[in-house]
Amino acid sequence: MAARGRRLPEHREPPAIGDAVYRHIVASLRNGVLSVARDGTLAFINGEAYRILGLTPAEGDLGRPIAEVLSTHPDVVRALTSAFDLHMLANRAELRLRPSDKVIGYTLTHVRDDTTAVVGVAMLFKDLTRVEQLEERERLRDRLAALGEMAAAIAHEVKNPLAGIEVMAGLLRRKTTSSPDTQAVLTDIINEAKMANAIVQEVLEFVRPIRLQVERTAVADAVRAASQLADSKARRGSIDVHVELPAGLPQIQADRHQLTRLFTNLLINAYEAMDGRGCVTISAAPANLDDGDEERAAVLMEIADDGPGIPTDVADRVFAPFFTTKAQGSGLGLAIVRKIVDAHDGQIDLQTSVGRGTRIRITLPVSSGGALTE
Ligand SMILES: Nc1ncnc2c1ncn2[C@@H]1O[C@H](COP(=O)(O)OP(=O)(O)OP(=O)(O)O)[C@@H](O)[C@H]1O
Ligand SMILES: [Mg+2]
Repeated sequence: MAARGRRLPEHREPPAIGDAVYRHIVASLRNGVLSVARDGTLAFINGEAYRILGLTPAEGDLGRPIAEVLSTHPDVVRALTSAFDLHMLANRAELRLRPSDKVIGYTLTHVRDDTTAVVGVAMLFKDLTRVEQLEERERLRDRLAALGEMAAAIAHEVKNPLAGIEVMAGLLRRKTTSSPDTQAVLTDIINEAKMANAIVQEVLEFVRPIRLQVERTAVADAVRAASQLADSKARRGSIDVHVELPAGLPQIQADRHQLTRLFTNLLINAYEAMDGRGCVTISAAPANLDDGDEERAAVLMEIADDGPGIPTDVADRVFAPFFTTKAQGSGLGLAIVRKIVDAHDGQIDLQTSVGRGTRIRITLPVSSGGALTE
């Protein structure tokens, strides 16, 4: 605001800006921009729009019907063309792109010429996939925090009586040397109490937040350690484990102990599902993590088994804490795996088909800075 008494600066027209400036601005925007003319042809598209939509720019795109240029995105075409008939356009809407499953947030605008006649429709959009993932992760974290607090409180209360049962059953066992039957029952009680205690420890461990000890970690080291641990914890039988790690795979900045734990849990799950027969393949390759705005160097790790697979209704729940289909399972294995992946800011997905097997793919960023190599 002008100070009282001072003369307002003389109003001047802004200097005329050439078309090239507008073009450069729109082309360099970090939003996708595309516009369609009244006749349904593509009037403009910038590089970011091509990138988000997963299209390769081609010479004659401009001037071609958008239904052809965007043939893989019928929903985008529909949103654009139907906007000509609307007087009021929504401020913000979202759309899931079918081929890539990306979510975009967009705004539509009527493009008016100097006579204010609507000559086109423009769409400004941004890739929200990463935002969605972060929101989902946040929701999960809140749920886990509430669940965790309750589980930790119960586990804490149960720990002492359990220890009491174990000690007292031990005392009784020493006093009943004359009765082997009674001793056998007491031994069972002690073993059961020990098992319950192990579950309590596991729950307490699960609900504790992970504090990462990040260091340069070779995936191969974690896989080797995990394979030994899994062999000692579960029955492998004659299952073959193939490890296919290319030479020169980037080291990642990760918590070596947690990475080992991740592979151990996945290997144990495979062994338990496969009943002593079949093949598990662990592989890894350099990859990129798509953050929406930028791509980060990453390593994609896969662990695939040719076991029984998981029915769809079960597969939807396997990452939930305490979900298990096993009589002796605590249902924390995959929840822990997911927690470890989240702590490393990575991504995880599961592909499974009944009778064919299960494949878990994990992508972890190489680092927040530059790539590290072995
Ligand atoms: N490789 C696999 N093949 C078939 N089913 C699997 C596989 N991995 C996991 N599952 C299914 O997912 C469920 C959840 O796995 P998760 O590791 O979280 O718990 P769990 O193995 O049952 O118990 P815990 O790991 O705590 O001992 C399992 O009970 C099983 O039904
Ligand atoms: Mg498990």
